[in-house]
Amino acid sequence: MAGWWWALPRAAGRHPWLSNVLLYGALCSAGDALQQRLSGGPPDWRQTRCVATVAVVFHANYNYVWQRLLERAVPGRTPRAILTKVLWDQAMGAPVAISAFYTGMSILQGKDDIFLDLKQKFWNTYKSGLMYWPFVQLTNFSLVPVQWRTAYTGLFGFLWVSFLCYSQQSGDGTLKSAFTSLHPKEANQVERPSEK
Ligand SMILES: *[C@@H]1O[C@H](CO)[C@@H](O)[C@H](O)[C@H]1NC(C)=O
Repeated sequence: MAGWWWALPRAAGRHPWLSNVLLYGALCSAGDALQQRLSGGPPDWRQTRCVATVAVVFHANYNYVWQRLLERAVPGRTPRAILTKVLWDQAMGAPVAISAFYTGMSILQGKDDIFLDLKQKFWNTYKSGLMYWPFVQLTNFSLVPVQWRTAYTGLFGFLWVSFLCYSQQSGDGTLKSAFTSLHPKEANQVERPSEK
């Protein structure tokens, strides 16, 4: 068991693309599962399959290429290089990833207008990401010890995917809509006065 565990990082180092694909598939399936759990309905495996497919076909490959390009363009770990990479990631990486998620999900779900979700939710989602990812990335590089960074990034990626899945299913891309859904009672209390 222990031997198997230690072999993992070495195998990942030898097969970076494959481990990236496996990581994305697992992380995004888990993120969707969490969102479904929190929503409280019966499990929808078709939905999970769609999320995993989009993640494996697009996001794993895109991230793989994009991170390497970024590292080649702005190498190193000086504060300046890190900040530049975070900015590029938000300016270029994030919009593409968000657009591909909404469009890819709409295609797989056979929606009539595959760009409708994208049009309605892109800006809200992008703004939510701007409040979330720079914070995660900067703490990752400045506060988190190197050996914990993969796990740290994975955890925040997992939470982000849950948020994306919620936004795609029933939210509008704002963090507020997702948090309100976690507290349905409070949401009812807020809405009640306006019903009178
Ligand atoms: C966190 O740091 C590691 C390496 O130090 C890096 O590979 C990873 O991309 C970083 N994650 C984020 C979200 O910045």
